[in-house]
This record gives sequence, structure tokens and C-alpha cells, in this order.
Amino acid sequence: MLLAHFSDLHLSEPRPTGLAELANKRLLGFLSWRWRRRHRHSNARLHELVRDAWAQQAGHLLVTGDLTQVGLPEEHRQGRRWLEGVGSPDRVTVIPGNHDTYVATPWDQGPGLWGPYLPSHGAGPGGAVDATFPVYRELDGVALIGLSTAVPSAPFLAVGRVGSSQRRRLEELLVAAGERGLFRIVALHHPPLAGVVGRRKSLADRREVAKILQRAGAELILFGHTHSSGLYRLGGPELGIPALGVPSASALSPDPEHCAAYNLIRIGGGPGAWQVQVSQRQAGILHASPAWVSLPVAAT
Ligand SMILES: [Fe+2]
Repeated sequence: MLLAHFSDLHLSEPRPTGLAELANKRLLGFLSWRWRRRHRHSNARLHELVRDAWAQQAGHLLVTGDLTQVGLPEEHRQGRRWLEGVGSPDRVTVIPGNHDTYVATPWDQGPGLWGPYLPSHGAGPGGAVDATFPVYRELDGVALIGLSTAVPSAPFLAVGRVGSSQRRRLEELLVAAGERGLFRIVALHHPPLAGVVGRRKSLADRREVAKILQRAGAELILFGHTHSSGLYRLGGPELGIPALGVPSASALSPDPEHCAAYNLIRIGGGPGAWQVQVSQRQAGILHASPAWVSLPVAAT
């Protein structure tokens, strides 16, 4: 199984239909985009990386959120058109980030517009978010579980939350997939580990999520949000669950840690003997063959 992990595209163009749409936190985000952030991301870079992922024979493409700037309905429609250009819904999975729920918006005017690219498990009670997440796919021996951490937050905050309903479903899915010997990937926008981001950007229920991951077991955690590369271990430096962060797939930064990139993740072997290799593919140097790095995972 070869998975391509993309995140933090930030490429939609906010076109507010009136001042009312900006009469909240969105005004600050819109001005920040106009003055700074729109000069820091490149559609051409993202396009180059997507083309490379399919050329490398990726079997599936995962996007861990922040497709938009301030989460306007029109930006979500632009996100849907981008997803349709990337591939069919059976080959692409998306979950939202904090920018995608910038302020409280009806679900069908927000990430709900991404439709079949959110493969709802359809088992949760309550509102649309609980009914949609975790999203779930099985791909050639891999269980891909996608959480939403996207919640509206106050100005100057970019926090996230999984919430009790999703956490309950997460544990059930992890246990069931583990009993069947599947390789369990948990994907979420915010890193569920201490010390990766500051409080202003953190996951509010990080401790509860981490406990579930350690209790029920998972083989790999994938996240975005930080706009930088990072490999961490949840639950210990050696045998902990590997948690892999990926930079923004559209960043114009020349710094190798923050430059536009995606991760190719190759999963082979089987329960007790999983083999995982990762290759980070950076914009501008895609002519090189992938350089694979082995990623030890705990025996299950
Ligand atoms: Fe982001």
C-alpha cells in the first residue's frame, strides 16, 4: 500500500459576498491572507506535488485539512473542485482543519460540501459532524481512520477538539481493526502530542485522544497544522506510536523544513512484522528517485 499524505493547502481565494460575511473573526483572517499569507503559498507547487504522487503510483491520497483561508462557503466549493481535479472519491480522502471551520457555519455550507471525499462511517449519533466522523476506509490491509479536530475558535486561536462522540467511535474502530490484523492509521489535523505546537494552536482533548490511541493501539499517526516536517513518538521514544507531521503542500518557503512537500508512505508486511518506509517529496527536487527511510513500528 502506498499512501500520499498532503496537508495545509491554503489555496482557496476568499471572495466575501458582503461585509456581513466578514463581521467576525473572518475579518482578521481575510486581512492576514490579503497582506501576508497569499504570498506564501503557490498553486503551481501543489499541482507539481499531486502530479508526482500519482506518477509515483500512490494508491491513495490523504489530505489532512486547511484547504481554505477563512472557511467561506465559496472557498469550500473551490476545495471540492480541487478535490475533483485530484482524483475520484475512492482514491482521495480529506479531513478538515481549523481554517475550514473558521467561524460557526452550517455543515452543508462548510466541509460538508466536500461530499464523497469524506467517506463517512455513518455510525455516529447527533449532528452532521458526529454522523460523519471518524471517516473510515480500508485500503489493502490498511484501516485509515480520519478524525475532525476542526472547531470554530476565538480570534488569534487555532485550537482543535475531537470531542467525546468521535473519541468513542475512534476506540471502537481501532479495536475492531486491530482484531482483524489491519495496519491502523489515525489521521487528524492537529498533532495529538504535547510540545509540538503552542497552546494557542493545540488540541484541547489531546490527553484523552492519546490515552485511547495507547489503550486501543494504532500503528501510525499522521497530522498537519504545523507546516513543518516532524517525527514524534506517542508513548515513548522507541516503542511509542510514530506520529508523522508533513509541511504545507503549497508553501513557498525556501527552508527545507517548511518548503512545499508531501510524504509517500509505503506499508508492507503484516501483523507483528509491519514494514513502513517514508519518503518526503519536496517541490523543486522531484526529479530525484524517492529516498526511503524505514520507520520502525511496534509489533502488534
Ligand atoms: Fe494550516
